[in-house]
Amino acid sequence: MSSQTPPPKYIHEDHHDHPALLPVMDLPVIDISQLTTAEADQNLRSALSEYGCIMITNHGVESWLLEKVGMVFKQFVALPEEEKLKCKREAFQGFGADPALAGDLLPVDWSARLVLNVLPQEFRELKYWPENPPEFREVVDEYGSKMVTVHEVILKALARSLNLKETTFLDKIREPWILYARFNFYPPCPRPDLVFGLKPHCDATVLTVLLQDKEVEGLQIEKDGQWFRVPIVPGALVINVGEQLEILSNGEFKSSHHRATVDSEKQRTSLAMICLPNPEVEVGPVEELVSEERPLLFRKVKYEESLQLRYYQTGKRIIDDARI
Ligand code: OGA
Ligand code: NI
Repeated sequence: MSSQTPPPKYIHEDHHDHPALLPVMDLPVIDISQLTTAEADQNLRSALSEYGCIMITNHGVESWLLEKVGMVFKQFVALPEEEKLKCKREAFQGFGADPALAGDLLPVDWSARLVLNVLPQEFRELKYWPENPPEFREVVDEYGSKMVTVHEVILKALARSLNLKETTFLDKIREPWILYARFNFYPPCPRPDLVFGLKPHCDATVLTVLLQDKEVEGLQIEKDGQWFRVPIVPGALVINVGEQLEILSNGEFKSSHHRATVDSEKQRTSLAMICLPNPEVEVGPVEELVSEERPLLFRKVKYEESLQLRYYQTGKRIIDDARI
């Protein structure tokens, strides 16, 4: 084995194309400042029904804040190991690779994450929040509050587009719903065709708002059996439909199947801001979206982090358990 070959635990036997060989996906770009007009709402609906993934612009997050929230994480990963260990990952939150589980697992991801509960405030555990760089906490706090608005604007528009009361989805996931941050760090790997930064998956979320690296591509999505690269559009954010919204909408919105590849020379970072239902609620399809023509597709499910991790690592999906 040459020194170029990654350790076996990372290797996916079913070799995938080198990222550079894939076509670029022409994702719909939606100006969300236009939402509330019926036309814009319908455009959003059709884009998310067809792709499960879009880019948004005019989302209300100033460019300095986008820049800053990307930057503070890059500064954090550049710190010496012992400094980063202060926020070491335990079970779910903190910085590190996913915890190792026993059993029949898929290869390990070529990445580390910093996972933080951001909202509601009482779920925050500051011991996992970096104190270095010094502005880290303030910047993530500010970005988090902007993300609440983005989630609300989109979930309301999607409800209106289906002729529902605009708070329908928000009522179902119930206050306080959860916002957490997943900062992804993908070190370079000499053989990007053998490993994944994040293996193919659908997010188990309601919605995920992803801030991509400014310079290094890596996100790919699958459409009709073909993988595509998602381009970097400066200032835009990527929205992915998660499984919880697929269930809530009784299948109208499909969760996007995507993955992250790595670069052979450059590190890459990204930030996923994730919306999850209130942990007390069981999520099922909205009653108005069930009819004779659109039969009930899913049972109610409760999101559980530990279950989700096991599913991710074994390649299963919560939504398949929920399917009737
Ligand atoms: C995720 C994800 C993709 C990326 O965090 O769920 O799919 O480009 N991230 O980092
Ligand atoms: Ni994802």
